[in-house]
Amino acid sequence: MARENDCEIIWKAFEQAYVGRDPCDVPPQAYDPLINSVKQHVVCNTMMFWSKTKDTVKAFADNRECLVILEGTLLGFVFDELTWCSKNESKETFTTDCPSWSHCENNPVRSFWNRASVNFAATSCGNVSAMLNGSLEAPFSSTSVFGSVEVKNLDPSKVNSLTVLLVTKETDLTTCDNPSFHALQNILDTKIAYKCRKVPYSKVEGCISDPEIPCSDCL
Ligand code: APR
Repeated sequence: MARENDCEIIWKAFEQAYVGRDPCDVPPQAYDPLINSVKQHVVCNTMMFWSKTKDTVKAFADNRECLVILEGTLLGFVFDELTWCSKNESKETFTTDCPSWSHCENNPVRSFWNRASVNFAATSCGNVSAMLNGSLEAPFSSTSVFGSVEVKNLDPSKVNSLTVLLVTKETDLTTCDNPSFHALQNILDTKIAYKCRKVPYSKVEGCISDPEIPCSDCL
């Protein structure tokens, strides 16, 4: 039987992106071969984006087939929380002393997430959602990966709607009327319907502790 994903090929495609390169000179396109080396079956209506809600979203999506986050896909899962880089003319991979996220734009880790996020958004279809943090004064940031990469790469011929799920604690004052969502609507293609809904954090917490509760009862 032919294997769908070949780890040797995927690993070589990963290494060619950054090995031997200056760690501030690895653009997102360097990961094109890596992205193309992976075949991933996408299920419409399951994709969830997020911003500033990483721990909550990861715990929530864990063991729930009704939800797919980038960190639950093959590449997202493998490289989540990792740091890597090389050096000019080196054959080595280092996992320490690599540039931080904002030290320079074209660093191996940031470029990987930007490229993987383009792919995740561009392959999304149907009704998609984004879990944003209702404890923040401005839950949407146009400079975040979600705001600067993913929203812009949703394909209006495949995506019907984007629903913001604003995870809110009892004392939080932020609502769906938050001005930051105007910026989101301005970036979003007009052919994609925009929706926003508050989701109580207590409800999400309950669903995290019991993965048997269906998505429809959680969000
Ligand atoms: N400094 C350091 N780390 C950062 C920074 C930054 N300025 N920006 C992003 N990161 C890294 C961190 O590891 C952080 O946990 O990216 C992660 C997500 O950052 P957020 O600002 O919370 O969210 P966002 O930038 O919108 O990215 C999340 O991209 O990973 C994809 O599909 C995923 O929808 C999700 C989105």
